[in-house]
Order: sequence, then C-alpha cells, then structure tokens
Amino acid sequence: MSPEIYKVLHVVGVLMLFLGLGGMFAAEPGKGSRLFAMLHGLGLVAMLVAGIGFAHKSGYGWPNWMIAKIGCWLVVAAVPVMVKKKVLSRFVGILLALAIGATAVWLAQAKPF
Ligand code: HEM
Repeated sequence: MSPEIYKVLHVVGVLMLFLGLGGMFAAEPGKGSRLFAMLHGLGLVAMLVAGIGFAHKSGYGWPNWMIAKIGCWLVVAAVPVMVKKKVLSRFVGILLALAIGATAVWLAQAKPF
C-alpha cells in the first residue's frame, strides 16, 4: 500500500474517533449507543496502525514527535473513561479532546523534535 493510502486511513481513523467522542458525549450518562463507543475504539486502532504504517513506508523510524503523538493518542483514548467516572466534566472532556487533537496535528506538521 502506498504511503498516501496509509495517511488517508490515519485521517479517517481520526474522523471516526471524533465522531465516536461526539456521540458518546451527546448521550445521557450510562445510555450511550454502543455504535459510538465502537467508532471511538475502531478509530483509535485505525489511526495507530495507519500512522505507524505511514511512518514505516516513509522511512521515519521513531522520531520523538511521533512518541509524543502516541502520548496524545493515549489521552484521547482515556477521555471518555475520565468523563464517565466523573474525573472530568463533559465540557472539560470536550476541551481536552480538542486541545490534544490540535497538538497531535501540530506535531505532525511541525515535527518540532
Ligand atoms: C490524537 C491523536 C492524533 C491525531 C488527532 C492525529 C492527526 C493527524 C493528522 C490530521 C495528520 C495529517 C497531517 C498532514 O498531513 O498535514 C497526521 C499525520 C501523521 N500522523 Fe497523526 N494523529 C494522531 C496520532 C498519531 C499516532 C498515534 C501516530 C503514530 C504512532 C501518528 C502518526 C502520524 C504520521 C507518521 C503522520 C504523517 C506526518 C507527515 O505527513 O509527515 N499520529 N496525524
């Protein structure tokens, strides 16, 4: 598969993740549809596999900005759990997901380290 396909799959994974988050946040606590939880989970897997696939095809190795992106990925994966357990309010969860998502996009663009 070409690197471009991996990158498209990576971004599709990001879209799935954020659609899933939106659906989970919109539901009443404890009444969320499984479809959105599945979108969130499948999106996470797709973006990790396709991100690593793209890096491998492009000969990037494991630069530090990519390790930092895995950190972002872990935080976005944990946001719904933190909201469900009331560690974060839904509003703060949304802000955190957007801020971490923006950081991950910036890391891919700027590759600062
Ligand atoms: C919240 C998590 C993440 C978000 C929102 C995100 C988002 C994005 C977006 C939108 C792009 C396209 C940037 C562009 O072409 O201009 C991108 C590129 C990329 N991402 Fe991610 N990503 C995330 C996590 C990850 C993870 C976990 C990995 C790998 C382990 C990864 C590896 C990459 C790579 C290698 C690129 C291509 C960079 C390049 O064009 O040179 N990303 N990411």
